[in-house]
Amino acid sequence: MNLYLNGEYLPLEQGRISVEDRGFQFGDGVYEVIRAYRGKPFRLAKHLARLEQSVKGIEMALPEPLAKIEEVCRTVIREIEEAQIYLQVTRGAAPRVHAFPQDVRPTFVAYARAVTRPPDDRVYTLKSVTDDRWGRCHLKTICLLPNILGRQKAAEAGCDEGLFVRENGAVTEGTASNAFFVRSGALFTHPSDNRILNGVTREVILEIARLQGVRVRYQAVTLAEAMASEEVFITGTVTEVGPVVAIDGKPVGKGKAGPVTLKLRKAYREITEKECV
Ligand code: PDD
Repeated sequence: MNLYLNGEYLPLEQGRISVEDRGFQFGDGVYEVIRAYRGKPFRLAKHLARLEQSVKGIEMALPEPLAKIEEVCRTVIREIEEAQIYLQVTRGAAPRVHAFPQDVRPTFVAYARAVTRPPDDRVYTLKSVTDDRWGRCHLKTICLLPNILGRQKAAEAGCDEGLFVRENGAVTEGTASNAFFVRSGALFTHPSDNRILNGVTREVILEIARLQGVRVRYQAVTLAEAMASEEVFITGTVTEVGPVVAIDGKPVGKGKAGPVTLKLRKAYREITEKECV
């Protein structure tokens, strides 16, 4: 039973949602993706805190108390040791009107699927794409069309991920990842504001950087600066730390995973192993 849907545990393929669900019709909802290692969700409290921030940000409340959501996460992964948990909360199913419907029960979905750690030699190529998203990217909403179109553009150019660049020239993040740039030995990342999703993985990396004495600059870089970086990497719950070897067809640094990236990736893996035992 790796699916929980509105109070019931079911096999994933038996889940059914109304055609009038506001998530389906309006993208009126939020989500989380959580990684579990050896049957233990990694940084679950951080993901649930962000879920709470996201529901508040769209003027909703959590569909269940936090303790219950935590229990649901642990239950859906029971038969899957290496898992990704997907949580989604929508404003519920109601006749289609734009304003919030009254007295509607939110839809709450949680399910798990098996995943594996990316192999050691996995590297990424990026394609720059216009960041034309809205002003609340810090909320993890299910309105992901700009992300999907950006990722598709990258895929059509033979790249693994899109790198969002705003009209003012600032690089924000990937379409489903945060981005880091090593410049003169310092680690640059976009400020943690409404222009990016503050990744749980990103926070762990920043924690490690502080411990390792790596200088961190919360400052956006331009695309030209990004491309001239010594090293670039992306982060995400399932991606973990992904070394970037090229942007827009041009090699980054030496065109292979760099030493700062590899050191951070190693430390990241060690933390997941230490915390998920
Ligand atoms: N995406 N930025 C964006 C736009 C994202 O969609 C994600 C993650 C991140 C990284 O966040 P975290 O480290 O908390 O996973 C940054 C998830 C994994 C997804 O949509 O599948």
